[in-house]
Amino acid sequence: MKLAINGGEKVRTELFPSYNTIGAEEKKAVDSVLDTGILSNYIGGWGEAFYGGIQVKSLEEEWASYFGAKYAIAMNSATSALMCAVGAAGIEPGDEVIVSPYTMCASATAPLIYNAVPVFADIEEEYFCLDPESIEAHITPRTKAIIVVNIFGQPHAADRIREIADRHGLFVIEDNAQGPGATYNGRYAGILGDVGVFSLNYHKHIHCGEGGVAVTNDPEVAERLQLIRNHAEAVVEAKGYTNLINMIGFNMRMTEMEAAVARVQLTRLRGLIDERIENVEYLNEKLADIPCLKIPQKRDGVKHVYYMQPILYDRGATGVDRNRFIEAVCAELMPSGLREREGVLIRCGYVKPLYQIPMYQNKIGYGSAGYPFSEDVDYPQGLCPVCEDMYVNRMVTNDLIHPGLSKQDLDDIVDAFRKVYDHLDELK
Ligand SMILES: Cc1ncc(COP(=O)(O)O)c(C=O)c1O
Repeated sequence: MKLAINGGEKVRTELFPSYNTIGAEEKKAVDSVLDTGILSNYIGGWGEAFYGGIQVKSLEEEWASYFGAKYAIAMNSATSALMCAVGAAGIEPGDEVIVSPYTMCASATAPLIYNAVPVFADIEEEYFCLDPESIEAHITPRTKAIIVVNIFGQPHAADRIREIADRHGLFVIEDNAQGPGATYNGRYAGILGDVGVFSLNYHKHIHCGEGGVAVTNDPEVAERLQLIRNHAEAVVEAKGYTNLINMIGFNMRMTEMEAAVARVQLTRLRGLIDERIENVEYLNEKLADIPCLKIPQKRDGVKHVYYMQPILYDRGATGVDRNRFIEAVCAELMPSGLREREGVLIRCGYVKPLYQIPMYQNKIGYGSAGYPFSEDVDYPQGLCPVCEDMYVNRMVTNDLIHPGLSKQDLDDIVDAFRKVYDHLDELK
């Protein structure tokens, strides 16, 4: 039986089922908003409508109560919520913010909006979140905050990072875009820092098209998030808010339709996570039998909610480069419904270490003269060796773990890995 990459028959010839969590209840919720004729109910000035309409306010109440936060502030994306969080923290031009290189770009670039400088610390070899030791090594007198990321749905090393932050007086922003429902020692991810951020974009566990939510327990921070979300500069005077630092506002408002959908989606979250965990556990057990694959450990005391399944590849066990091996696995499989354009949802490396993208390499932010990057901060090759090794050699991410996949679908994935492993000589 030849490998599909060499012209043999594929393990699977049908598309994988799509991940579609939108049903009759979401449709009804949107219809009820459409019936009112009010698709968004904000005014960018001080008054009752400064806080948005009934759907947005209800979503915020329900979100705060679900995750155990005092305040939830709905936004039009997690990117907006991250930017808002940096502003609310009072970060100033030239301040440094420690960020992860192994995340979606917005978690690291948010500080640049306030002319602050992202400083990249390395990630943990085992869990791929920011490494507390590397954070500590990158703290300078200019460091003001840390943006931690619960990458792939697993909480960061919250206790150790909180301790470091407290010792140095740093603000912690927790990017929980990939981890809604994850827990750390019994507490929900998202409420482990000073502000937590969730994403409701189309690819997340639950979604409303585009959307985000910031949570915090601090009333002052909550007020600042609300102001930055909605034209702060035009509101502060009438509201009687006097701290003008970073009170340039934006329009980061969520519509009533998105909020209505997000409310229904939140009620589905628990069940959707359970199915994801069941699928990953099934795959983990079978993939662990293939000698070149290693299933990463989970951090003690956490519930991982698997936005993606990370798998480690060991070239030493095959003599074949990871990219070539995964190319052969993907050739055995098929894309997923609704996401055909993206090809097979098994990928090498996750993202390129963020400091290697042109903006950081060339230090071109605002204008052409290097602003706001400082001369003291550099982004050389080898800056974060663990992250670079994951990107170049070891990490494989699998998106084919979502609710709606059958055991047969999961078996096809395992069979594809197994077939390629059994025919390594065809790849050499
Ligand atoms: C870790 C992380 N942070 C932030 C974002 C940005 O989310 P949004 O698309 O809602 O702006 C994403 C989205 O993929 C993400 O995965």
